[in-house]
Amino acid sequence: MESQNNKKKNPILNWTLFIITIVAVFILGLIASSITKRKAEANFAYKPSVKINEYEPRNEVWGENFPREFQSYYATEDGSFSSKYNGNAMIDMLEVDPRLVILWAGYGFSKDYNQGRGHFYAVEDNRNTLRTGAPIDDNTGPMPTTCWTCKSPDVPRVMNEGGVKEFFTGKWARLGKEIVNPIGCTDCHDPETMNLQISRPTLIEAFERQGKDITKASYQEMRSLVCAQCHVEYYFKKTDGAAYLTFPWDKGYSVEAMEEYYDEAEFKDWTHALSKAPMLKAQHPGYEVFMTGIHAQRGVSCADCHMPYKSEGGQKYTDHKIQSPLNNIANTCQVCHRESENELLKNVYDRQDAIIENRDELERLIVKAHIEAKFAWNKGATNEQMKEILMFIRHAQWRWDYAAASHGGSFHSPVEIGRVISTGITRAQESRILLARLLSDLGYNKEVPMPDISTKAKAQEYIGLNAEKMKADKENFLKTLVPEWDAEAKKREDGWPIEKM
Ligand code: HEC
Ligand code: HEC
Ligand code: HEC
Ligand code: HEC
Repeated sequence: MESQNNKKKNPILNWTLFIITIVAVFILGLIASSITKRKAEANFAYKPSVKINEYEPRNEVWGENFPREFQSYYATEDGSFSSKYNGNAMIDMLEVDPRLVILWAGYGFSKDYNQGRGHFYAVEDNRNTLRTGAPIDDNTGPMPTTCWTCKSPDVPRVMNEGGVKEFFTGKWARLGKEIVNPIGCTDCHDPETMNLQISRPTLIEAFERQGKDITKASYQEMRSLVCAQCHVEYYFKKTDGAAYLTFPWDKGYSVEAMEEYYDEAEFKDWTHALSKAPMLKAQHPGYEVFMTGIHAQRGVSCADCHMPYKSEGGQKYTDHKIQSPLNNIANTCQVCHRESENELLKNVYDRQDAIIENRDELERLIVKAHIEAKFAWNKGATNEQMKEILMFIRHAQWRWDYAAASHGGSFHSPVEIGRVISTGITRAQESRILLARLLSDLGYNKEVPMPDISTKAKAQEYIGLNAEKMKADKENFLKTLVPEWDAEAKKREDGWPIEKM
């Protein structure tokens, strides 16, 4: 009673207490916020423990300063995830689909082709594939040095030491002792600032030839362009004795623009062993195809789906385990989409199923066309009679390969890939109509008999490959030359001291 009376009688005291409380709360709030801010600063301040030199290729040295990114990056060693069509397991694609042996007859890919796996394996897989052959010294083997370009952070180092053209000169084995660290930090980061950087001159040059300056790219664009150093279409342009890595983008990077570029240059990767068509091998136009899709058009970058943010002990960092986003839908798709995991998975599989159904159809048609063309040659067809047919085969298979090798393309841009495949089917059918007419002129009007290519071994035997000999030579190379390369590399790297800071 007393106090109530007091309060009622003393409004000034009440107001004073009220204001003092507000001021006190405000000051407490300020102190608290400055404490958390300092804590955050302490967390995010970059405290290097070793000095990272320019061109440092050893990912372990970078790992001293950035253990989370390093450890997640090295988790690309994990080979346990499989989705419906992809994943990070090692799969022998020629065994799965022996028709590929026929499509690539006369070319390295008919010897050996595995599904791509984590960046961790880039150097190892390049040494192991039968495509790089079995060199016995610096100057033997089928492939040029250029085949190392997208495998290792040793590449920018060697290019800097000897020059870019020099890098692209000579046989693959010449650089075996130099290129030993798998794809890593310096491929994408400037060691001074840790900003994303373009370490490969080829991409910078392709931009320049289109009149574009890559240094003007936005931060978000860089989160895709670092991948576009390697996940793109390219060829080896013969330039004064070098096999200069070049992106065929001068007319644009649609399937037609690149085809026109190659046709004008009369470029071919190889002559097909059965049909004798002047063939193109699409490498992996992943970036080009992605750029035609809805996600790219809405400003989503490769890193948004393949390198999501991750939280650990209250700290947010970029997950460097670059892999299929389907292994981590919660941190990739669901950052932007509210649908369930199953729904999103179904969205991906529906698109892939629809594309792959037609891609398989195109593949069957091209296999037939190669075998029918060989049959026509045997019946005495002339170069003149075959010329147009072979161009249709070249263009059909370029489209099939553009679709098949644009890894992830059937999800990245299903409408564009669907279009590319249907234009391929038209060209394959065109070649077969012309072939039927030609065979009839040559006095043959029945179905051309097809060989048994139901397994990889049967298909390889049909095109005249001796797989056993290739494997034995490879074993020998891995037992003799490779240990020498590793020993030399170790000696070199032991000579680079690590400076503590
Ligand atoms: C294929 C390219 C690529 C490679 C290889 C790579 N990074 Fe990154 N890194 C990125 C991208 C993309 C980001 C996100 C950049 C951004 O948005 O700020 C990133 C971010 C970072 C950051 C900033 C903090 C964070 O986690 O977001 C650090 C530190 C880092 N990377 C360290 C490394 C280290 C160490 C290695 C080698 C073990 C490495 N990176 C290899 C592409 C790469
Ligand atoms: C220096 C070249 C290079 C760069 C840069 C690069 N990649 Fe790769 N990537 C490769 C190679 C080579 C392989 C295949 C490795 C193997 O199979 O041994 C590969 C494989 C992959 C795979 C398959 C992995 C799996 O587990 O199935 C994905 C996904 C991938 N890269 C995405 C990216 C993304 C996204 C970026 C950019 C953030 C990127 N890559 C940057 C060269 C590169
Ligand atoms: C950074 C944000 C972001 C991420 C991550 C993302 N998306 Fe999207 N997605 C979008 C946007 C934006 C659109 C365009 C929709 C629009 O503008 O209405 C889109 C469109 C789509 C569509 C419709 C496209 C079509 O073909 O019609 C599908 C399906 C889809 N996303 C699935 C996925 C899946 C699956 C993942 C994970 C692998 C994913 N998205 C990751 C932002 C994102
Ligand atoms: C919207 C999400 C999204 C974006 C953005 C995206 N991808 Fe993908 N990517 C996927 C999905 C989903 C798959 C299919 C994975 C599967 O089938 O397991 C895939 C597959 C791949 C594969 C084949 C993976 C494998 O396991 O063999 C590669 C390589 C790849 N993407 C590279 C890239 C590159 C390079 C970019 C940028 C130019 C990019 N992706 C942008 C979602 C995305």
